[in-house]
Amino acid sequence: MIHGSLFPAASDASDVSGDCALRVGLIGTGVVGSGTCQVLARNADLIAQRAGRPIRLVMATARNLLKAAQVLGPDVALVSDPLTLVRHPGIDVVVEVMGGVTLARTLVLDAIAHGKHVVTVNKALLAEHGSEIFAAADAQGVIVAYEGAVAVSIPIIKALREGLAANRILEVVGIVNGTTNFILTQMHDAGLSFEAALRLATELGYAEADPTLDVSGMDAAHKTALLAAIAFGADVPLDLVHVQGIGTLDPFDMVCAQALGYRIKLLGMARQRSNALEVRVHPTLVPEKHLLAQVQGAMNGIWVNADAAGPTFHYGAGAGSQTTASAVVADLMDVARQGSAGLSARVPHRSVPSGVIRSWPILPIGQVASRHYLRFELTKRPELLTRLNGWLQALGVDVQRLAHVQHPQDGMQGAVVMLTQCLTGDVLLGAMEALRQMSGGLEPAAMWRVEDLN
Ligand SMILES: NC(=O)c1ccc[n+]([C@@H]2O[C@H](COP(=O)([O-])OP(=O)(O)OC[C@H]3O[C@@H](n4cnc5c(N)ncnc54)[C@H](OP(=O)(O)O)[C@@H]3O)[C@@H](O)[C@H]2O)c1
Repeated sequence: MIHGSLFPAASDASDVSGDCALRVGLIGTGVVGSGTCQVLARNADLIAQRAGRPIRLVMATARNLLKAAQVLGPDVALVSDPLTLVRHPGIDVVVEVMGGVTLARTLVLDAIAHGKHVVTVNKALLAEHGSEIFAAADAQGVIVAYEGAVAVSIPIIKALREGLAANRILEVVGIVNGTTNFILTQMHDAGLSFEAALRLATELGYAEADPTLDVSGMDAAHKTALLAAIAFGADVPLDLVHVQGIGTLDPFDMVCAQALGYRIKLLGMARQRSNALEVRVHPTLVPEKHLLAQVQGAMNGIWVNADAAGPTFHYGAGAGSQTTASAVVADLMDVARQGSAGLSARVPHRSVPSGVIRSWPILPIGQVASRHYLRFELTKRPELLTRLNGWLQALGVDVQRLAHVQHPQDGMQGAVVMLTQCLTGDVLLGAMEALRQMSGGLEPAAMWRVEDLN
């Protein structure tokens, strides 16, 4: 349905925009959609100059059209059926900032089938259906741009696909979820429990009413899978990404990690290991002096190690209205410049053309090697420590650092914490099972991986 005087008719879309303007149809007028309208309006002259032509929002859709009309003002045609928008001949590019996967996939594929370029910030959609969507876009000769899908205000996709295009990327390691980084910062700085820190994040608007995607690590996994696909020119099936969230993290481990010179962060990691990739998300000990350990609150940070450029660090806001719009509008400007060029003249969706995308094996987490942090609650039986060292040595586990840590709360048992040498997960778990048997039940109260990021 197309609305009347309050909402200009959709057929006016091409007239309003003029001949050379890039005509945009917007699906979703919420946090990201409204920020996009504001940036497009406020910086219209500058954007037109830099993009070589004006970018004009001509049509939009949302569920609540009255609310949308207040966001958009009188010059934008509103339609109630998103299919009308993605098929409309007066639209050159569809901006999908609606969220969700099923309907978003249908609309994006339909837009592509109708020859529209697409800008989306939907990491869940691209992590689950990116290969299908990029193949459809290549077949139709249109662009699918998605800078806002990862660490919104950081132009990391441009950095990987363009700025670092001459490099072999060795590893990409990032804090790519602001909600969990806010919670971990509160647990570390204020000693809050996970539950209390989550409550605070919700009260302050950093966590959604249902925080499952963030807290489970899944949102970070979506973004890490996208970064891995770009960095290594690869198909990265989401179900092969190892994901562990922050819900089981004990704040005491943050105190213990600090005693060893580390901070615990939820990292998304993608790394090349001979002929396979590691792609994983989990709480990780990071050296206190590393830039990633300095990323506080809801901010994001991404560390890229590349063969020619060496290490680079990228920092910025990971969410927000205009912060995300900054990426959406930059993508629209790319479409304005490159949209009429042939496929070979454009930056490929995942850094290499679809024909040379590789299917790298993804290492199961048990085969991934790293140093490990172990916490044993031995302080009530200190005589066990000497024996524990002997047992670990016999099992091939080297203790490289060790500290005794008092629990900050009175009456709580302190701990002996240690860092091991580099071991695969399978080898360590095997050793811990053998330890339990030979010691009559001794096992670590916590085990986390360590990344020294040298
Ligand atoms: N918020 C951020 O900081 C941020 C950052 C990066 C990426 N993203 C991604 O951006 C997307 C949107 O996030 P948001 O925060 O802007 O969400 P939001 O504020 O909830 O806005 C969603 C918009 O989509 C519309 N919508 C939802 N379902 C629809 C449907 N079935 N048909 C038509 N319109 C529909 C909503 O309409 P009504 O308003 O009428 O309900 C609303 O205008 C998500 O993919 C999210 O992951 C968000």
